[in-house]
Amino acid sequence: MNRMNVLGLLRVGSISAMLILGDAEANGEASPARGPVGSATALAALPAGPEKAIVLEHCAVCHDIDWIVRSGGTVQGWTDRIQRMIRAGATIPREQIPAVAAYLARALPPRLREDEPK
Ligand code: HEC
Repeated sequence: MNRMNVLGLLRVGSISAMLILGDAEANGEASPARGPVGSATALAALPAGPEKAIVLEHCAVCHDIDWIVRSGGTVQGWTDRIQRMIRAGATIPREQIPAVAAYLARALPPRLREDEPK
């Protein structure tokens, strides 16, 4: 086993590590200090914008973003839900509710589910 082979293996390892990190960075503003706030798929489901930063800051504290992306709703539905999250302890400022509810209703609209009446 010569040194070249060992270095080659190390290089392959660090390239795949870079690909994984690059993917996470491309899909969201997850800060390394706080760790991942949701899967890359969930982060990609939220379009870029100022509201995304608010959601990542205030809505991934108790559960990850995947929880949110699995849900859908109207502006009213999201408003009610955000108010329920505030009662549970979420720190999102109340004046940001209308913008964030509109943003979430746009990104995650109501979806018909099998168990819902049509
Ligand atoms: C203080 C902790 C906490 C924070 C912060 C928080 N949540 Fe939640 N969230 C919960 C808990 C507990 C549940 C599960 C129980 C429930 O549904 O009330 C939940 C469930 C959910 C669900 C799935 C159930 C449902 O009601 O559809 C969604 C969507 C959701 N949260 C969105 C949000 C959003 C958006 C924010 C940011 C404004 C947020 N959460 C911030 C505690 C929190």
